[in-house]
Amino acid sequence: MNPETAESPFVRACRRLPVPHTPVWYMRQAGRSLPEYRAVRADVPMLTACATPDLIVEITMQPVRRYGVDAAIFFSDIVVPLKAIGIDLDIKPGVGPVVADPIRDTAGVDTLRALDPGDVPYVTEAIRTLTKELGATPLIGFAGAPFTLASYLIEGGPSKSHDHTKAMMYGDPALWHALMGRLTDITLAYLRLQADAGASAIQLFDSWVGAVAPEDYREFVLPYTSRIFAGLADLDVPRIHFGVGTGELLGLLGEAGADVVGVDWRVPLDEAARRVGPGKALQGNLDPAILFAPWEVVERRARDVLTRGEAAEGHVFNLGHGVPPTTDPGQLGRLTDLVHEVSAR
Ligand code: CP3
Repeated sequence: MNPETAESPFVRACRRLPVPHTPVWYMRQAGRSLPEYRAVRADVPMLTACATPDLIVEITMQPVRRYGVDAAIFFSDIVVPLKAIGIDLDIKPGVGPVVADPIRDTAGVDTLRALDPGDVPYVTEAIRTLTKELGATPLIGFAGAPFTLASYLIEGGPSKSHDHTKAMMYGDPALWHALMGRLTDITLAYLRLQADAGASAIQLFDSWVGAVAPEDYREFVLPYTSRIFAGLADLDVPRIHFGVGTGELLGLLGEAGADVVGVDWRVPLDEAARRVGPGKALQGNLDPAILFAPWEVVERRARDVLTRGEAAEGHVFNLGHGVPPTTDPGQLGRLTDLVHEVSAR
């Protein structure tokens, strides 16, 4: 753990310790909603930006400078470690990750070799520079969780129903478990190297796992997310676990072993605290679409999130999912100030 950030409101809230104000950051805070992001990305493909330390540092810093958020999130994408081990994929603007040869058999699974820190030198270099520039502001490292990565690899791109993914899960459990095992090794190695380089917290994004029923989560997903969180325990960095549409899975996400459970906008935080159970902090959960409403509505809803968040043992304010690309940055600036003012103790 980077000692400079150990007493930050963000790290303290993750650890369920008293804080001077509720810390706030936003998923996708660095991205298309910022004109300064669009300017530096103008002629640079997404995956090129993700492999260029100077650009990673600049884009990661942009929302910290503009909003004064309580944490930075490393600018990258969940498919970066897969690209780094040689998977043929790209991020198509307006679409998302697209995989050239979807993985649907043993030969495909065998293409997923182990990740070595030497595969992603630009990640280590950017994190080292960032931790210096950020000073007492913590940097959050992240990775995609095995289920969400498996979905992109099996479907070949974004999917609403995850049909091929579930076909493998139900139809060929041995192949499924082999694939999830490989992805778990890659994800764990990737998160450890980010913490080793200086990240003060890590977040596991299982964005699409809300597609899975609880009993299937327990059998087909939980063994892997549990292994990831257990494999990070010795590093002493707060571990955050986030997914979308996970209302029925919140207890299981808590069981997987993270310190903080991220909640989307569908379950109020006081109810989420009951579902997750004791010993966890919560992160969330303003509906990102609220940002398109007049300020009075944003303010009323944000105050409600803060009030309900008091039911949790620790609360990190965030949106229930990423910042939409057409968001007015002015709304996020006012929201950040409001959270700090209203929650000041
Ligand atoms: O949060 C941040 O500010 C850090 C950066 C970040 C990005 N992707 C940058 C990005 C993070 C944490 C991610 C994670 C990610 N990527 C997830 C998990 C989080 C979530 O939103 O649920 C997922 C599912 C992906 C896959 C992915 N990559 C999608 C769905 C997209 C958007 C496609 C589109 O164009 O609408 C991407 C591309 C991507 N990742 C962009 C950014 C800023 C847009 C690329 C661009 O600017 O052209």
